[in-house]
Amino acid sequence: MLKIGVLVSGGGTNLQAIIDAVKAGKIDGEIVCVVSNRKAAYALERAKKNSIEAVYMNKKQYSSVEEYEDSLADYFENKGVQLIVMAGFMVILSQRFIKRFENKIMNIHPSLIPSFCGEGFYGLHVHEAVLKKGVKITGATVHFVNAGADEGPIIMQKPVIVKDDDTPEILQKRVMEEAEWEIFPEAIQLFAQNKLIVEDNIVRRVE
Ligand code: GRF
Repeated sequence: MLKIGVLVSGGGTNLQAIIDAVKAGKIDGEIVCVVSNRKAAYALERAKKNSIEAVYMNKKQYSSVEEYEDSLADYFENKGVQLIVMAGFMVILSQRFIKRFENKIMNIHPSLIPSFCGEGFYGLHVHEAVLKKGVKITGATVHFVNAGADEGPIIMQKPVIVKDDDTPEILQKRVMEEAEWEIFPEAIQLFAQNKLIVEDNIVRRVE
């Protein structure tokens, strides 16, 4: 059983999708803890409602970023976490943290990387940029986290149609429903089954 630790900042609909997939037996693993950098994140409530340890940890409580990241990493290690899932976590982690969990941190991004990603592309900004450019297809990407913003090895992607009368909010909702909530649990299950191999920044799937 894969031990999963989840990092959140907001509403936690992706966390909910993972909780539901675990409950439905679609992931050979368990969520052992959920950590938020925002006290009011509804994701923490979702964790508690499902009897999952929910913790609030914010940079400001520590004297330095290093101390914050070390505490976070130590916490996950003490819990025996084997995979860290960033489910709408709005903090960029340093190389120092990432090195301790190389190819063991997954993130979801609400576009088809390498389009509409990197610095400044988060939340509704991503969907605003998609509509401004007039692309007809967008989607979501699950990737391992490395030093660059949204640059880690890509695990799964799913396309979503952009409609002429979309607003950023409507498009965000469709990308979540049709892509994010589907591919995130699937990618975690592939990891749980040891089916992902990373070579030269490329993920290959093995059976
Ligand atoms: C999602 O759109 C995700 O792609 C992005 O942040 C959002 C989080 O939403 N990284 P939620 O907290 O999972 O509802």
